[in-house]
Amino acid sequence: SSFTDYQAESATISQGVVASNHAGFTGSGFVDYDNVAGSSVEFAVSAAAAGTQSLTFRFANGTTADRPMTITVNGSTVAAGRSFPGTGAWTTWQEITVNAQLRAGGNTVRATAATANGGPNLDRLRV
Ligand code: GCU
Ligand code: CA
Repeated sequence: SSFTDYQAESATISQGVVASNHAGFTGSGFVDYDNVAGSSVEFAVSAAAAGTQSLTFRFANGTTADRPMTITVNGSTVAAGRSFPGTGAWTTWQEITVNAQLRAGGNTVRATAATANGGPNLDRLRV
């Protein structure tokens, strides 16, 4: 099967900045979430047909504390407080996958920090 990558640095960022100070990202950088609950990145995702898709988030968390995020699709929560655990270093990138129903055409996929620690550094969404 094929996939499409959506770079976080090209998405809609609320309470975060584009950064490139930790190696290993894809594209031109990543999003460094502000360390605050509610900081978010929203991707505009196109689907050829309605159906269940794998949403794979590539991230780094150089702390030892989980940075859970809530994942919504078209405004509906599909994963509340999904774990984005420590990866060992800010230069160590890992992926987590959430399955969700998309509709044909345009969709919004948002990853919102669930705690005051903010989100992890987010590199991309692969669908
Ligand atoms: C450091 C790190 C950032 C990271 C931040 C955080 O400042 O350089 O990339 O986003 O910690 O704890 O969120
Ligand atoms: Ca941060």
